[in-house]
Amino acid sequence: MSATISKPKAFIVTIDGPAGSGKSTVSGLLAQRLNLNFLTTGAFYRGLAYLCRKKAVDLKKIEEVTALAYYKAFDVQADVMGTKVFIDGIDITNELSNEEVALVASQISAYPEVRLALLDLQRDFARPPGIIAEGRDCGTVVFPNANVKIFLTASLDKRATRRLADEQTISNRDNADSRRKVAPLSKAKDAIEIDSTALSVDEVVDKIIGIVKDKWKK
Ligand code: DC
Repeated sequence: MSATISKPKAFIVTIDGPAGSGKSTVSGLLAQRLNLNFLTTGAFYRGLAYLCRKKAVDLKKIEEVTALAYYKAFDVQADVMGTKVFIDGIDITNELSNEEVALVASQISAYPEVRLALLDLQRDFARPPGIIAEGRDCGTVVFPNANVKIFLTASLDKRATRRLADEQTISNRDNADSRRKVAPLSKAKDAIEIDSTALSVDEVVDKIIGIVKDKWKK
């Protein structure tokens, strides 16, 4: 009789929330403290936005935008330190952090075909030892069976200050991300909401570590 080898499981923590709620900073610290890989799902949309601009694709042409999501030399990598995006073997991660790229990312992220194309790429990161996955639909769509789900919020003015952006820009992106038909920004039923407006980064991280510890060994 052959011995059964059980598949090692990945521990998955999802952190969803609007722009500027602190998801990235908090997730980065959590990944290091828990020794899990740090998956920024916005990097897929930002990377694709960058690629669309580089290839001068008309953003209204959904088929052309979607085709680029399958572009062979579009590669995302994640480890404990963070998520990197490569196009044609070149690390373009540093080009992705501005609000202009974010706006294009938000626009193309509303196309169901684009979301579908990027879904499996994201799910592929659910490998041992596990991930901290941050974004908009990680707890609702990408990793619905995550071990811990957090929904991180903060007031609009606090979020705009953190992003060094004006409130209107952030609010427009909030609206676009929350009102799209497919996988809009929303709190999963089983997510725990944390309002970071009056909390320091360390306070948010400690709160989440407390929640994770409860589930870690179960
Ligand atoms: O988290 P971010 O600011 O890097 O995300 C940029 C845009 O990408 C965001 O405005 C909407 C889109 N996005 C998404 O639709 N789903 C995700 N899971 C992550 C980002």
